[in-house]
Amino acid sequence: MQEPRHAEIIEGLRCTPACISPKYFYDERGSRLFEAITRLPEYYPTRTEHAILQASGADIARAIGQGCTLIEPGAGSCAKAAVLCGLIAPRCFVGVDISADYLAGAVQRLGARFPGLDARALGGDITRGIDLPADLPAAQRLVFYPGSSIGNFDPPSALALLRQMRALAGDDGGLLIGIDLPKEVAVLEAAYDDAQGVTAQFNRNVLAHVNRLIGCDFDGSDWQHRAFFNTAESRIEMHLEASVPVQVRWPGGERAFAAGERIHTENSYKYALDHFYELLAQAGFARTRAWTDPLQWFALVHAQA
Ligand code: AVJ
Repeated sequence: MQEPRHAEIIEGLRCTPACISPKYFYDERGSRLFEAITRLPEYYPTRTEHAILQASGADIARAIGQGCTLIEPGAGSCAKAAVLCGLIAPRCFVGVDISADYLAGAVQRLGARFPGLDARALGGDITRGIDLPADLPAAQRLVFYPGSSIGNFDPPSALALLRQMRALAGDDGGLLIGIDLPKEVAVLEAAYDDAQGVTAQFNRNVLAHVNRLIGCDFDGSDWQHRAFFNTAESRIEMHLEASVPVQVRWPGGERAFAAGERIHTENSYKYALDHFYELLAQAGFARTRAWTDPLQWFALVHAQA
C-alpha cells in the first residue's frame, strides 16, 4: 500500500504544473486545521448545511423514512451522522473512512449515543471501491455524503463516484448528498482565503505532510497560498505559489520550481442544482429532491435509485 501512494505524490510533483491531491491535506494537523476552517466566519458550507438539516429535518426525515441502513463514506468524527441519526433513526450505520482508527472510536461513541443502532466502522477509500460487510441489510440503504466532499472531484470522477454510491445503495436505496452552489465570487473566494489565514496554513500544511510521506524537503515559508474562483470550470482552485526559486529533493529525485510557479492542491466544484441533477440521472438516480438555505448557497439533495 505504501509504494503506489508515494509514487502518486512523486508523479504529481514531476508534472507541469505540479499537483498534490487534496486527500493529503488530512494528516492530524490538517484535520484540526480543517475543523478550524469550518468555524471561520467566511467558511459558510458547514454551518449552512447544518442549518438546512435543522430547518428541514422533519421534511428530510419524511422523504427518507425511518429504519434505513445508513452508509457514510468519509464519516470521520461521525458528527454529521449523529445529527442525521437523530432525524431518521437508522437501524444500521456503516461509517467508512481511510483513518480506520479514528473512525472506530467515533463509531463506538455513535453506537453508545443511539441504543439499538447497529453501528459499524469500515476502513476504506470509496474512490477505490469498498466491500460492505456481507451481513449488512440489503434493503432500504441510504448513502450519506455531506459537506460538499463531491466538489473535490472533477465532473467525470464525480460521476464515477456517484455510480459507486448508486451501486452501494442498491435498487431500493437512495443518496443524501451535500453540494455547494455557485454564488457571488467574493463570497466564494473569501471562504477559501480567510482573513485569519487558517486556510493558508491548511494549504501549506500539505507540504509538511508530503515531506513526511516521501521524505522531501519543502519549506512551507517559501510558498504562498492562492485561492480563486475559476468561472469557466465553476470551481475554487487552491494553489501554492513559490515566492522564491525552490529546489525540492526526495530520495531518488528532485524538482526545481521558479519563483511564481505553482502547485495545484485542490479543486472545489460548485454545481448548479440542475447540472447536478443531470449527473445524478447519469449515475442511475431518479426522483430527486433538494433542500436549500434561504440564500441558496448550499443544497442537501436526496435522490432515489
Ligand atoms: C472538505 C472538500 C468540502 O472544498 O470546501 C475547505 C475542503 N478546502 N477549505 C471544500 C476545503 C479549503 C472542503 N471540502
